[in-house]
Amino acid sequence: MPASYPHLPVLYHEIILALRPRREGYYVDGTLGAGGHAAGILEVSEPDGRLLGMDLDPQAVWIARQRLAPFGQRAVIVQASYTCLREQLEVLGWQAVNGILLDLGVSSMQLDTPERGFSFQSDAPLDMRFDPANPVTADELVNSLPENDLADVIFRFGEERRAYQVARAIVRSRPIHGTSQLAEIVARATRGGRPGFHPATRTFQALRIAVNRELEALETVLPLAVGALAPTGRLAVIAFHSLEDRIVKHYFRQESQDCICPPRQAVCTCGHHASIREITRHPIQPSEAEINTNPRARSAKLRIVEKI
Ligand SMILES: C[S@@+](CC[C@H](N)C(=O)[O-])C[C@H]1O[C@@H](n2cnc3c(N)ncnc32)[C@H](O)[C@@H]1O
Repeated sequence: MPASYPHLPVLYHEIILALRPRREGYYVDGTLGAGGHAAGILEVSEPDGRLLGMDLDPQAVWIARQRLAPFGQRAVIVQASYTCLREQLEVLGWQAVNGILLDLGVSSMQLDTPERGFSFQSDAPLDMRFDPANPVTADELVNSLPENDLADVIFRFGEERRAYQVARAIVRSRPIHGTSQLAEIVARATRGGRPGFHPATRTFQALRIAVNRELEALETVLPLAVGALAPTGRLAVIAFHSLEDRIVKHYFRQESQDCICPPRQAVCTCGHHASIREITRHPIQPSEAEINTNPRARSAKLRIVEKI
């Protein structure tokens, strides 16, 4: 696994083991990033395994295109949301695929490019868009949402207990135009917090999720991904916070059951049939060694299912 790219793929070996890439196989990486996992899938599925790589971020697409160029036409790369999976597969004429990866959230390249506004480590405009064509920026949310709506975003998507104090402090300090200014306001409103954990972490996460409508996208893609898998094909999802992981876990649990009637109902009326089987009852997490080399991997949780 080459480490010379600006994002180290998380749980790389576990993803390769999960998806079992093979010759003649068809794969999708819905969150291409710098193409680290995608390169692995293409290498292991030599000589003719194929991969569709998607990312909302044109910079990621550009980097991944360079990285995957040696694989020629085996790699098809598009700048699109993974929620357009079905349309993209139709364009390619791929009926079903053998493996799909979703490595959710933000990449190191995005975090480490100050002008993208994802990080409070350096001062930058409040942007946070994966796709620069998205009409909503973090600046707009921070400076125009009514206080209650802002508090709701920070509470729901950041799980910030002091969401109302934070929202009030933001509204009182408007206009806010930079990541440092916002981080300071949040730090003052939350007064301290856990050592080693910046008090603005939750608020920044909340704004990023809201700007990119990340949870809606995840809820949309899971059934599309399961629908796109060939029998025995696998879907692997890496989540980085509990909101994402909860959605993945519930969906996988529900779709791996034959009946989803309420537990107290004596006779089944739902007509539901399991479409997947869970390969991981409990999520796979990175080893200490991986966290030491790549601290950003520390909150990763990988869940894998197989199409029946
Ligand atoms: C954690 S990174 C993926 C890193 C990648 N696996 C690698 O090895 O380099 C997540 C990527 O998903 C992209 N992304 C987020 N939401 C997306 C969506 N709805 N559709 C497509 N890509 C998305 C982000 O732009 C980011 O590049």
